Amino acid sequence: MENNLVTTAYIAASALFILSLAGLSQPESAKRGNLLGMVGMAVAFIATAAISQGYPIQLGSIGLGVMVGALAASRVAMTDMPEMVALLNSFVGLAAVLVGFAEYLQPSAALVGADVIIHRVEIFVGVFIGIVTFTGSMVAVAKLRGWVPSRAVLLPARHVITLGMLGAIAVLGAPFLTATGTTPLMALGAMTAIAASFGIVIVLAIGGADMAVVISLLNSYSGLASAAAGFMLNNDLLIITGALVGSSGAILSYIMCKGMNRSFINVVLGGFGETASGAGQAAALEGSATSTTTGEVVDLLANAQSVVIVPGYGMAVAQAQHAVAEITRMLRAQGKQVRFGIHPVAGRMPGHMNVLLAEANVPYDIVLEMDEINDDLAATDVVLVVGANDTVNPSAKNDPTSPIAGMPVMEVWEAGTVVVLKRSLSSGYAGVENPLFFNDNTLMFFGDAKTNVNGILAQLSTAKTTAAAALSAA
Ligand code: TAP
Repeated sequence: MENNLVTTAYIAASALFILSLAGLSQPESAKRGNLLGMVGMAVAFIATAAISQGYPIQLGSIGLGVMVGALAASRVAMTDMPEMVALLNSFVGLAAVLVGFAEYLQPSAALVGADVIIHRVEIFVGVFIGIVTFTGSMVAVAKLRGWVPSRAVLLPARHVITLGMLGAIAVLGAPFLTATGTTPLMALGAMTAIAASFGIVIVLAIGGADMAVVISLLNSYSGLASAAAGFMLNNDLLIITGALVGSSGAILSYIMCKGMNRSFINVVLGGFGETASGAGQAAALEGSATSTTTGEVVDLLANAQSVVIVPGYGMAVAQAQHAVAEITRMLRAQGKQVRFGIHPVAGRMPGHMNVLLAEANVPYDIVLEMDEINDDLAATDVVLVVGANDTVNPSAKNDPTSPIAGMPVMEVWEAGTVVVLKRSLSSGYAGVENPLFFNDNTLMFFGDAKTNVNGILAQLSTAKTTAAAALSAA
């Protein structure tokens, strides 16, 4: 009876997770998707707790986890979300490693014959995926926080080193599966240490511009680690959930690779195509940038018929989305065409810009993907680049030596005038200089994006009030 109830609860939770993923695929239904996922997780929690032993420890650990998780999630800034995701991925990986060792030392089921070998294979694979996810995610956190360089850190002869590590791991599989006494435990420990270094080396080798894909890929690995833990513990819900996370993360990574014109295999293998000396040295830039003022930008907007706004990470840092949305409403009310162009990896997580614009109530139908709007940019009067940098860098298209060469970018330089809102001429996340800032049709509007957009807004409002007063006086 109890088992039937748990099975039913697990099926319900799995269905809720699938509906949650479906909901998350569109901004309009994303909130509902999140809610369904939370309900599914609550059902899974309650059902698992109901069949478990040792309630005080369970309740204590769940309570502590809920407290830490709720506190961390409520405090994290939107811009720090990728670090949070990477950290959570690392916990999943570590959990799979701990489950693997625990299952080896004290198997949860009495196993005989071939089942022992099958169980050990599950443990070996689970611990391998778990530890690679753990150390890889920790390096990703360190890169995103700037604790280690975000550029690709390439060890000399690293392909030999990584292949050697994989070979050693495969060799250690034999004693773990067949030996007796303490040898299997030693083999498992040695494999864990080597796989931990493997995770570090492959993520260190990935350059800043590809980190977005790596976070998504590690998310996928964390799903595989959960599925592996599910096999070890004989828990169907963990297997289903892990498979959902693993496959959706892999699909997302593939889509992002396509969006950035990167080889999926290269990223999976840790920047396989990069060379220690070749990549990362773009041509040096010459020339001077032209700075602009609030008044000049307001005049440009007043005379423009078509405006495209290209947001980036800086808009998120400055929290300028509400002021940007307000400008959009005012310009549209004046009959101008205003649209947004979103690069697939603008910001620091997939969909980052879409979430911010939705939060500021920008209508979905004027928020276009890069591929939908790039061809229209040549016929656009003014492009406002709000805190974007790598995603509008022409060297991706024109400079084959650039570390971001080949990555599709928003071709903003094709527009009549480009106004770039950022605080300085410094480079973006990928650490690559941007020649856009020195183009003849580019104006640099230096300063905090929110302050400057608010300045534009204030002058546009004053101009509107003056015009209305003049009209009523006439
Ligand atoms: P970035 O290239 O990172 O450039 C953002 C720019 O915003 C910076 O150059 C900075 O210039 C400016 N900025 C920062 N604070 C600002 C403020 N308060 N006001 C005005 N400007 C400010 O951004 P992007 O174009 O969105 O490109 C995203 C990059 O992040 C890509 O390289 C991508 O691969 C990577 N990435 C993406 C993701 C995902 S999934 N989207 C995840 C991780 C990494 P100043 O310092 O001069 O102001």
